[in-house]
Amino acid sequence: MPFKFLTLEVADRIATLTVNRADKLNALNDATIAELGMAIDRVRVEDSIGGVILTGAGRAFVAGADISEMAGQTPVVAKGRARAGQEVFRRFETCPKPVIAAVNGFALGGGCELAMACHIRIASEAAKFGQPESKLGILPGFGGTQRLARLAGKGRAMQLLLTGEMIDAQEAFRIGLVNKVVPAADLIATTHEMMKLILANGPLAVALCIEAVDRGLEMSLDEGLILEANHFGLLAATEDMREGMRAFLDKRPAAFKGK
Ligand code: COA
Repeated sequence: MPFKFLTLEVADRIATLTVNRADKLNALNDATIAELGMAIDRVRVEDSIGGVILTGAGRAFVAGADISEMAGQTPVVAKGRARAGQEVFRRFETCPKPVIAAVNGFALGGGCELAMACHIRIASEAAKFGQPESKLGILPGFGGTQRLARLAGKGRAMQLLLTGEMIDAQEAFRIGLVNKVVPAADLIATTHEMMKLILANGPLAVALCIEAVDRGLEMSLDEGLILEANHFGLLAATEDMREGMRAFLDKRPAAFKGK
């Protein structure tokens, strides 16, 4: 499937999805958002893909939604744009295959929001994070007000949202916005290593972990515990559970089939 603003390459079951609009610091115009939606749908359905690494071409991860496109937006268009972006980002968040953001540079506005919709974030020491929308007289429209508070806590989310100031990768790590910070030269290798650890595990178990955490965060503890127990029971019906436990007892690596 040819994309204009993205590349999607698959090797060894790992898809690398690169936002590729480097001259505009990978700013997300409507077309790029739509392509991201098509790309994550492809990741979901293609059996040859076990997980996806999302990154940016050049010196930015994504420097936000495209300001030139938003400058003249009417209220109705603005709401539609926010809903369209939210819906695509939610598809990343609910993807049953692991989605890791390799944040190589600026992750601002919609870029920070896109990274937060991924399951795990690994940042280069050169990465910068922020939600500068209030400097433009708007607020984040792709989930930033919701996911930032959930990830980093209310006070830190308020600070980033209200000041619009950027933070560096170490500060992003300190506040729980990223999982790991590595030298720029090691970013892709480190991200691959983490993805390989995940892909060695049972894919059904991984998918249900993602769902249990994602859905469970929106439930009471008691409801979340029921969801978890149901998933635990469901996995007991799989060949993968039997294989995983047999492999442990046989002292050999498990060969999971996703069945
Ligand atoms: N939307 C549209 N274009 C953008 C953009 C965005 N969010 N972010 C960067 N660009 C474009 C610039 O307009 C410039 O294009 P040009 O060469 O045609 O003029 C190009 O990308 C390079 O950006 P530039 O600002 O020259 O780079 P810089 O190194 O001086 O500054 C940033 C980098 C990230 C600090 C700066 O680009 C910036 O503040 N971007 C906007 C961030 C933002 O507010 N995002 C939230 C949007 S809701």
